[in-house]
Amino acid sequence: MALMKILILGMDGYIGWSLAMYLANKGHQVSGIDNGSRRQNVGSIDSTSALPIKSMHERISAFKKIFNKNISFYNGDLLDYNFLKNVICEILPDTIVHLAEQPSAPFSMIDREHAIYTQHNNIEGNLNVLYAIRNESPESHLVKLGTMGEYGTPNIDIPEGFFEIEYNGRKDILPFPRQPNSIYHLSKVHDSANCQFASRVWGISCTDIMQGVVYGSSTAEVVSTSLFTRFDFDESFGTAVNRFCSQAVIGSPLTPYGKGKQKRGFIDLLDSIQCLRIAIENPPDKGEYRVFNQIDEIYDIIQLAEYVMKIGINNYGLDVSISNIPNPRKEREEHYYKVENNHLRKLGYKPTRTIEDTIDTMINDLIPYKEILTQYKKVIQPKTLWDDRKQEKLTPYAK
Ligand SMILES: NC(=O)c1ccc[n+]([C@@H]2O[C@H](COP(=O)([O-])OP(=O)(O)OC[C@H]3O[C@@H](n4cnc5c(N)ncnc54)[C@H](O)[C@@H]3O)[C@@H](O)[C@H]2O)c1
Repeated sequence: MALMKILILGMDGYIGWSLAMYLANKGHQVSGIDNGSRRQNVGSIDSTSALPIKSMHERISAFKKIFNKNISFYNGDLLDYNFLKNVICEILPDTIVHLAEQPSAPFSMIDREHAIYTQHNNIEGNLNVLYAIRNESPESHLVKLGTMGEYGTPNIDIPEGFFEIEYNGRKDILPFPRQPNSIYHLSKVHDSANCQFASRVWGISCTDIMQGVVYGSSTAEVVSTSLFTRFDFDESFGTAVNRFCSQAVIGSPLTPYGKGKQKRGFIDLLDSIQCLRIAIENPPDKGEYRVFNQIDEIYDIIQLAEYVMKIGINNYGLDVSISNIPNPRKEREEHYYKVENNHLRKLGYKPTRTIEDTIDTMINDLIPYKEILTQYKKVIQPKTLWDDRKQEKLTPYAK
């Protein structure tokens, strides 16, 4: 396998930093961009990472000290086209992994301002990436992070991006319909349409990843606290399993929303970065637009809460219970859900460990930070309603 020049957009983030260390350790030449907006946005809702994270520069020098590998970092915004263009011209990356978006559905639903911020940041940032590749580095392969949430929860199987359809006696292979459930997920749908257009019209090579919900607190490279990746547990940025593990550690009931029968595809952080490496090392043909559904297993939310409760009680003697709360979102609470995900498996993806093992590790990683979780406990309970006319006015996002 040839070693590559890889530019990670969003390197300061949860997946970005984990991916940067992992790829650098495999020998790839890794650079990254970030504007620090995730830190600011989490701060704007009075929350913080449960695992204390160092600055980007401190993490990079700690990584260099421990693994003797370099990672370069450019502090800047994808909305600043000249900045982005200059970095891409300097590196001429083989692959650009684009993770740099506002990734929270509840955050995008707080009010009109947050909705516009999310779509502007995500859609315009992605358009800048597409133009910069087209104009400055047309050979670069774009690995773009989308989400399984783009598809919604249709009452039929979800294929990998495209499906064959017959209508009025004629057949075609068309993009599978997208029915997203938040302003954030809509931004991803628009991104996917723009990426597909850029491949079809300009010949950009693109892997569009429909990723499931990611869980996990660490990866193999996190051998020191100075290398922690962020771990959020608040209602906006904490994903379901991460939130449940945090609640278990502080003895708060785990709070599935509504019936808790909502089904989603999930993936371990370790497998998310494994799959991204596989996509990077097996690029599509020149000008091809391909879609990978990047999930390991489908669970319903109550099932996940039950795993966390069982492991918390049996392995750590924690006081864990489950208490369903009214659903702040507008979504189906009981539905069919089946997802095809063969593309990555055909290229060699194998899940690293069971979800029970990961939950055990997460609780173990979080126990030393119980004080932080307790101090910020109130951010776990949802305040953001899918109809914001009914909710209290919240603080605007930080800019
Ligand atoms: N974490 C998940 O469960 C999950 C699931 C499906 C898809 N995704 C997608 O994967 C990607 C990464 O997710 P994550 O959880 O690591 O999110 P994250 O917020 O931790 O990482 C994104 C990073 O991008 C940066 N960023 C955002 N806008 C930027 C801009 N305009 N210019 C420069 N930097 C910018 C942020 O500061 C942040 O550090 C996102 O696109 C997200 O939508 C995540």
